[in-house]
Amino acid sequence: MKNHIIFSFPGNTQLTVALANKLEIEIGSVEFRYFPDEESYIRINSDVQNKVVIIVCGLEHPNNKILSLMFISQTMKELGASKICLISPYLPYMRQDKRFNPGEAITAILFAKYLSGWIDYLITIDPHLHRITNLSDIYSAASTSVLHAAPKIAEWVNNNVDSPLIIGPDEESLQWVTTVADITNAPYAIVKKHRYEDRKVEISVPEINERSRTPVLIDDIISTGSSMSAVIQALISNGFKNPVCVGIHALFNDETYNNLLLAGAEKIVTCNTISHTSNKIDITDIIVEEIKRLQLCQNKK
Ligand code: R5P
Repeated sequence: MKNHIIFSFPGNTQLTVALANKLEIEIGSVEFRYFPDEESYIRINSDVQNKVVIIVCGLEHPNNKILSLMFISQTMKELGASKICLISPYLPYMRQDKRFNPGEAITAILFAKYLSGWIDYLITIDPHLHRITNLSDIYSAASTSVLHAAPKIAEWVNNNVDSPLIIGPDEESLQWVTTVADITNAPYAIVKKHRYEDRKVEISVPEINERSRTPVLIDDIISTGSSMSAVIQALISNGFKNPVCVGIHALFNDETYNNLLLAGAEKIVTCNTISHTSNKIDITDIIVEEIKRLQLCQNKK
């Protein structure tokens, strides 16, 4: 007997179906709608009793989703689910990881505390771990899995870019830049960045003498595009080829996408952790491997 089931939060069907097919799990049915006064109505139509429930809910733009996610997970627990596993390929609220100015909320910690109360397992891809180095330092869920997209990015670079030069747009990017550079056997450089405001960054590019190579900028998040844009412009004005921009999480809108192309990006490529037309790097398999490793989908005798 199967003792596991997977559910898709609205907007997550593609990844849910891919995972369900690869893991041969039943996709559960849940009804979501809003009452006329905009309160949420949720009804779980599949049996979850004594089952491990996997909920696929990418939490980008989280504020509109988080309450419904709490209603679903808590209702599933009430209905007898044995464990709740949340797959959120992008984990939000990781960047405000300290009080930069007096009085600010440290939302990374508050959000983690809130979410940890409803789930047993959390699986995510490259959360923005900077001053907080381990997700389990702030998430008290029984199990937190941090998966890495860098090997998949390296595979894409190997197959698509001749003679790459890997560049990180800030010091935090060193972790994925070095992995990709290692696998692709390419040189790398890290740019220094100072952010003054949400859309205002200043960068300084170190001395690099690899102008015949194609720069591949790699960052975990592309949001306003300010970081990528500043590096693109600096490289081009220093005689480098138009860079290829790779982001793990495509948090940007179409305007930012077009602005990066206008700034001189050769192309913009992202992982499918957040659905976007730039998704070219598939991370489904690394989530499948983790679900298998955690033995979440064992059949009952
Ligand atoms: C922050 O340090 C991250 O690693 C990214 O560099 C940042 O979130 C990118 O944001 P934006 O596209 O708004 O410059």
